[in-house]
Amino acid sequence: MSESLYPVPEAWANRARVDAAGYARLHGRSLADPGSFWLEQAKRLEWVKRPELAGDWSFDEADFHIRWFADGKLNVSANCIDRHLATRGNDVAILWEPDAPDEPSRSYTYRQLHAEVCRFANVLKAQGVAKGDRVTVYLPMIPEAAFALLACARIGAVHSVVFGGFSPEALAGRITDCDSKIVITADEGRRGGKKVPLKANVDAAQQHAPAMQTVIVVKATGGDVAMQPGRDIWYHEAAAQVSAVCPPEPMGAEDPLFLLYTSGSTGKPKGVLHTSAGYLLWVSYTHELVFDYRPGQVYWCAADIGWVTGHSYIVYGPLANGATTLMYEGVPNWPDASRIWQVVDRHKVEILYTAPTALRALMAEGDEFVAKTSRESLRLLGTVGEPINPEAWRWYHDVVGAGRCPIVDTWWQTETGGALIAPLPGATALKPGSATLPLPGVDPQLVDAEGEVLHGATEGNLCIARSWPGQMRTVWGDHARFFQTYFTTYRGKYFTGDGCRRDADGYYWITGRVDDVINVSGHRMGTAEVESALVLHPKVAEAAVVGMPHAIKGQGIYAYVTLNSGEEPSDDLRKVLRDWVRQEIGPIATPDAVQFAPGLPKTRSGKIMRRILRKIAEGDVSSLGDTSTLADPAVVDNLVANRVG
Ligand code: WTA
Repeated sequence: MSESLYPVPEAWANRARVDAAGYARLHGRSLADPGSFWLEQAKRLEWVKRPELAGDWSFDEADFHIRWFADGKLNVSANCIDRHLATRGNDVAILWEPDAPDEPSRSYTYRQLHAEVCRFANVLKAQGVAKGDRVTVYLPMIPEAAFALLACARIGAVHSVVFGGFSPEALAGRITDCDSKIVITADEGRRGGKKVPLKANVDAAQQHAPAMQTVIVVKATGGDVAMQPGRDIWYHEAAAQVSAVCPPEPMGAEDPLFLLYTSGSTGKPKGVLHTSAGYLLWVSYTHELVFDYRPGQVYWCAADIGWVTGHSYIVYGPLANGATTLMYEGVPNWPDASRIWQVVDRHKVEILYTAPTALRALMAEGDEFVAKTSRESLRLLGTVGEPINPEAWRWYHDVVGAGRCPIVDTWWQTETGGALIAPLPGATALKPGSATLPLPGVDPQLVDAEGEVLHGATEGNLCIARSWPGQMRTVWGDHARFFQTYFTTYRGKYFTGDGCRRDADGYYWITGRVDDVINVSGHRMGTAEVESALVLHPKVAEAAVVGMPHAIKGQGIYAYVTLNSGEEPSDDLRKVLRDWVRQEIGPIATPDAVQFAPGLPKTRSGKIMRRILRKIAEGDVSSLGDTSTLADPAVVDNLVANRVG
């Protein structure tokens, strides 16, 4: 790990909104006097009723609750749109870049966005959607995805976005879990020149999702799709029949804003619930501080709306701040590895936010794809999703940013709503691979396995000792699981599931998940989910899944599979099983390696020793540690001998 220091560039120090001393003051105040600190921050939002209460929370079992600004009322879409109309109605809110570079881009001013969102909201109302109803959004990266989210927020419906890469089975599970009667989709999506059959996937989901009654279909590609009478509606036809005026519904600060399913270490994906005011405040606050956003700048978060990064930093954070947010339909390396940089040049992007996995993939293609573009507009670079290796960091800094642009490495999670540990570009000297320091309001703690708080330079499990406004409020339909998952490992603290090192300067270095969650191309995957998919296959008796190092994806998926007796291992079956998981969950869950294992290393009580499986998958077979507690230590020799890769 590199300890080299990149000081704040002079140009940044000179115009910093918050400098190093300012950061220390803010952070100190936020923890010393959180009530007044947060009520003051709350002024950045427009309230129907201004709150007099800030945080009201307890992480203890007897009195467990989390509330912020609970007596306040506001509407999230009015904060993201209406309040900007008087001052910047004609400024571009959403700049949309299509998949194919030879197609024209599109832009929507705040005024146009207002009309689009009102219309969309009225279409939802006409379909009977009311405050509190769940609306599933299964859309490609088209402007309608942002309209749909903001339309839900406008009428108080709770959106649940399902990534367009998920399979019909995964979609059905999410529709059913939150009992969503309505799904918004498109005929097809496009990514990297390929079509994604979204509407057909929704049709295929129906048999496992009987709750679904209405499907609103956006015409995106014009591809041929079957419309089911009585269930399916074309968005453009419905929109033509409603008005472009829709007053925003006043919402309680703690009314739900959205659900987003994410993987945990056990069981099926959980519906992470975020509420209205605290979430919006957090994403607006962090978007301004971390990206140093200033009016007029073109800002591009190259994530997908299907993930939390898209929710917080394509839609809600930037629009709450009146920004111009760029939305890109395609993938980073199509038609070639220059595409991102060409888009930067075309739209004069000043702030670019992307993931280490994309950077590693582009870096592997060679510098010439970067060098042939200008990138002169870039001022600031950001990264998120997984630890960035110092080599990729330096490439981003030196080659992409030509040494000019600070990099904000933002650590956060679906559960945290927005960034918690990240540099402020005018205040924080950078170290490649470190997310640096906690944002004001954030109180990280490193603890050992027993929960003892560790001080100074040390390494441990990362907890957050107090609530912050953007924290998730519950797991949909299972509040007990929320408490159990995050607040019981270390009593009285939120446990992140990440390991972390703190250096002598107080900088945080995330070392990765310490639980059974793997991070594939920056996307979270529960090993349990992949295992459940594998054992659904009629030939599979048992499966154990672990992460393995992968040069581009960060982590790959390594599956150990025990077949039913009488079934023969073969390369064909390996392929069949990989395709099977792809079908069940989606392409991102496809195992990179499948090893047939006549037996798995289990303790006498039947618990699989994943530590051993991880070591073998990593190719680190010389230090398997103590295997004496295994019921049958001989299985390990077989696993080592038949390692794949
Ligand atoms: C990892 C994505 C190191 C971490 C916003 C976390 C990171 C998980 C970083 C959450 C970073 C995210 N450095 N690791 N800058 N950002 N992670 O919920 O393991 O999809 O727990 O949220 O990604 O993934 P999620």
